[in-house]
Amino acid sequence: MEKIRALEIDNLKKTYKSHNAVSTEALKGISFDVKPGEIFGLLGPNGAGKTTLISIITTLEKPTSGDVRVFGESVLQNPLKTKTQIGIVPQEVVSSGFFNLEEILKYHSGYYGIKDNSVRINHLLDRLKLADHKHKMMRQLSGGMKRRMMIAKALVHSPQILLLDEPTAGVDVELRTQLWQFVRELQKEGVSIVLTTHYLQEAEALCDRVGIINKGELKYVGHTKEIISQLTQKKVSIVTNAGEKISFFLNKNQALGEALKEKMINLDSVFDLNISEGTLEEAFVKVLNT
Ligand SMILES: Nc1ncnc2c1ncn2[C@@H]1O[C@H](COP(=O)(O)OP(=O)(O)OP(=O)(O)O)[C@@H](O)[C@H]1O
Ligand SMILES: [Mg+2]
Repeated sequence: MEKIRALEIDNLKKTYKSHNAVSTEALKGISFDVKPGEIFGLLGPNGAGKTTLISIITTLEKPTSGDVRVFGESVLQNPLKTKTQIGIVPQEVVSSGFFNLEEILKYHSGYYGIKDNSVRINHLLDRLKLADHKHKMMRQLSGGMKRRMMIAKALVHSPQILLLDEPTAGVDVELRTQLWQFVRELQKEGVSIVLTTHYLQEAEALCDRVGIINKGELKYVGHTKEIISQLTQKKVSIVTNAGEKISFFLNKNQALGEALKEKMINLDSVFDLNISEGTLEEAFVKVLNT
């Protein structure tokens, strides 16, 4: 029996046409899956097509060809159903007029047909540390609070999939770690999460798998740890008893002893030794440059 996927991105293409006949191929045939309960990172430089992809998943944009299935259901054929299973935190913060936070969340629940949602709303205000600000309007919030509010809004209808487009851009270190923890808690509740980010450390810390896209093409997709081990080398840094600093990379599967022998470094002469793993950032740079 085939396992159901939270998301199936199926040969997705998107060409934006503009009035002056200049067209942009934002997505050139992208396919990948997101499993239930997985945190999936969508990585790529500015203009790679990340937001376009997310907009198609949420039916904000129509694909030129291809399809997206949400728990097996096509976003083109059954948009009303798929939309209720998705929460979206857009890249740009949207300020909404004259309502305070609590009211915004109430009206937003109504948009999904949920009449009394106060338990969920209070829970979210609490979890996102917005309870003290619930009588304020969006414009009275700081940037980080606005971002948290966008997350609360995305979650009012308890979606199975949460899409976060740059959730921690412009967010301070403390709040960022709080948001990471929050994302992990959502994952424990079974929510599938897709996030885009330019912080490769964030993706490395959070994502089970990542997809790297560039100029509308999917260049690499896989488990975060495997990508790092496949595409990067361990770095050995040595300080000798004489105070000399030596550093070199280990070849794949090469033993440290063998490398030291090759470099004619005697262990007796070593004062300090450090081995560091490669990073997702190094792997990312490699993927984009090949
Ligand atoms: N509404 C639109 N009309 C025309 N072109 C668009 C539109 N939205 C995006 N594009 C173009 O499509 C390409 C992909 O843009 P997109 O916003 O998806 O990139 P991104 O990966 O999200 O970038 P960033 O990291 O800067 O957010 C870019 O060349 C962009 O100029
Ligand atoms: Mg974007």
